[in-house]
Formats: sequence, C-alpha cells, structure tokens
Amino acid sequence: MNILLKDVILSGKVQNVLIRDKEIVYTGEEMPDYDRVVEAKGLHLLPGVIDPHVHVRDLGQQEKEDWTSASKAAIRGGITTVFDMPNNKPPTINLPNLERKREKARKSLVNYRFNLAVTNYNYPEVKQILESQPHDVAALKLFLAGSSANEYVSGTDVIKRFFELSRKHHIPVICHTEVQACIDHHVRKYPSPTVFDHDAIRHRICSVEGTRMLIDIAKETGGIFYAAHTSTAEEIQMIGENKDRGNIYCEITPHHLLLNEEILPTAGNFAKVNPPIRTRADNEALWEGIRKGVVDTFGTDHAPHRKAEKLQDYRNAPSGFPGLETMLRLLLNEVNKGRLDMDTLVRLTSTKAASIFGLEKRGQVKEGYIADLTLVDMNKEWKIEADRFRTKAKYSPYEGMTGKGDVVMTIVGGKIYEVKEVDI
Ligand code: DOR
Ligand code: ZN
Repeated sequence: MNILLKDVILSGKVQNVLIRDKEIVYTGEEMPDYDRVVEAKGLHLLPGVIDPHVHVRDLGQQEKEDWTSASKAAIRGGITTVFDMPNNKPPTINLPNLERKREKARKSLVNYRFNLAVTNYNYPEVKQILESQPHDVAALKLFLAGSSANEYVSGTDVIKRFFELSRKHHIPVICHTEVQACIDHHVRKYPSPTVFDHDAIRHRICSVEGTRMLIDIAKETGGIFYAAHTSTAEEIQMIGENKDRGNIYCEITPHHLLLNEEILPTAGNFAKVNPPIRTRADNEALWEGIRKGVVDTFGTDHAPHRKAEKLQDYRNAPSGFPGLETMLRLLLNEVNKGRLDMDTLVRLTSTKAASIFGLEKRGQVKEGYIADLTLVDMNKEWKIEADRFRTKAKYSPYEGMTGKGDVVMTIVGGKIYEVKEVDI
C-alpha cells in the first residue's frame, strides 16, 4: 500500500511524501504513484513526537491509566513513541517485572520503550537485563527522592556504579534530581502546608543539589546523565556550563516552561507536581536554555492520577497530571506566537530524543526512515477541556486555556489515525 501525503509543508517547503507500509520511501516535489492520497495542503508534516517521560501505570494502577487510554491520548497529542516510567506496582526493577510490563504494553497503539528503575539493591538485575535483553529498554531511571515512587537511591557509590553501567552500555540515566534529605529538611517548616507551599517544601535547592552531584558523577564516570523535568534557572546554568562534554542532557516539560505559581489559585492541586512549578523567572531561564541550546528535549511527564485523588487536601493529593494531549498543542501555540521556531520544536520533541536514546530511523522525515509522522494545522484553534481527554485523568492545570496550532493526523509506523474530536 502506497500512501501519498500530498502538498505538506516540510522544512518550510511544499512537498509530497510517500509512505510504503511502515516506511517513508519518498520526499520531494515530484508526484509518485500511490494507492491512497491524503490531501494535506497547508498542513505541516513533523516527525512523530518521541516522549521519553510517560507514566502509563498499566501495572497495578489501571484505574489511573492503561495502555489503551494512554496510547489514545498519545495519538491525540501527535506522539508516536513513549518511554514508560518504572514506578509501577510492582516497580520495573528486575526481569520478571519487566516481562509483566511487556505483556501489558502489547495493546499499545504507539511505539514504546521501557525505563528501568535503579535502586540501592538492584544493580545485578539491571546489569543482567542490559547484558541479555536490552532491545526495548530506553534508559535507566534514577529517583533521588520519593515522588509517587517508593524507591529512591541514596549514596554516591551506588549511583556511580549505575553510571559506569551507563557508560559501558551507552544507555542514559534519566534522573529525577530532587534530593529526599533536602525535602525532609524543608517540609518541617510547614506544619499545615497547602499547595502554595509546595515549591518551598520541595525547595529549588533540593533539585539544584541533586543536579550538581549528578553532573560531577557524570564527569567522573563518563556515564550519560539526562536531567528529567529541569525546573530551575540554576540547573539550566549548571548544565549549560557542562554540556560540551557530550554526556549531559537536559529535558524540560511544557509546565515548567509555561506555568508558574500564578496558576495555583485557579488550578490548586491539579498543578501539584514534582518538581514543583516554579517562578516566572525560571520560565524565562528555561526559554533562554532553549535559545542557547542547553535544553535537548521536551517530555510530558504524563503522570495520571484519579481526579478524586487530586481533589483531596494538599497532603493527600498525589503529584502529577496528564500531559500527552496538551504538549504539542501548547508548543505549536508558542510557534504561532513567535516564541519558538518550528525547527527547534522538531529537534526538541523528536530528533534529539531519537539520537540520545538511539532510536534508529526515527525522529526525522526522511527517505528510509520509519513512517512515524504528525500532521498539524497551524491555524486550528483549540481550548483545553479536560473532560474530553482520552486519558483517564480528566483534569488539567491548563483547563480553559485557548490557543492555535493543533494535531490533525498521527501516523504510527505507516498506520493512519485521524484526530477527531470525539474518539480515534
Ligand atoms: O509529579 C510527579 N508525578 N513527579 C514524578 O516524578 C512522578 C510522577 C508520578 O508518577 O505520579
Ligand atoms: Zn515523571
């Protein structure tokens, strides 16, 4: 089956793109033969978004999300590959638990990889997986603090061993950089905390401290440090100063870029997330990080919880909110506003992740590459209405927000999904 995407805007030019089965076989101005045509005049064609940071939860927490709901949400958001995080029940800390996840993930509509959790005790298990069957493992995931995860790592010796493994197998260590002991210290000052104290409890110093330590460990060991959801100006600065070594990478989320404490009076615990949403000055520092090339990737940190859980008081409400259906829309809106250019968006949402995590033939619209593609309409207006989300987590700190630039079609390995308002 030959599918022609006709008259798409690709790298600023009007082109035709031919897909045969799972592959892109032609891009250019000629009109090749085809069996089916998609009239795409005026629409931009992007490589499908690769999201390294997704909590699918289809293991012990299906009431929050499963692979069907998560992958439908991904498709709605133009995301063709997700990396599933390991803080499940049971956590992905060894081969039997990875096998259980593999079984669940078979129903996914999008491509997937797994991030393996590292703990104080599972070095032999992680080593065994990397040596025997690393094919679907994208990265190691290291938490320096608890955050909807029980397991966090403490002690530089343990961390260094995993970074040695990272260097040997050329596999990134995705790090949640907040340090638990630091949070424990700050939380004592808030006997009756509310969401307005979240940023002071999980104090910025706690993230900065962890990032500093991990940069040092990456320098010493040669392992690959990938800072997840970077939230502060100080971390952007430090990572920028150390980037030229080639083994230090920086992910940001749309919420740390676009939201700050001003959203809390309306969003309340829906905006409770770890690391916390910071300040307007941090938003600006993240923008500067994009402009200077310090930021490598966007991740959604799609972290679904039940709405009823999020409506509890601050202490009991879990951290995290859904992001698969909002990320690309929010970023396209920034392109329309002139704050982000399309080439940078493509690099940060797809191309760079493919190269950091070694996804072959993905992340570019190019002959010979896999047909993971996202077709977007830069004139399509949207309003965030969480009760229409595909994810099971039907709430959002962006509720009611409007913008322009949206996904109209997501193509996963040559399979076309039209993004309609009601369902896919
Ligand atoms: O807010 C968060 N939620 N941050 C994390 O690091 C974990 C996530 C979750 O799994 O709920
Ligand atoms: Zn996360």
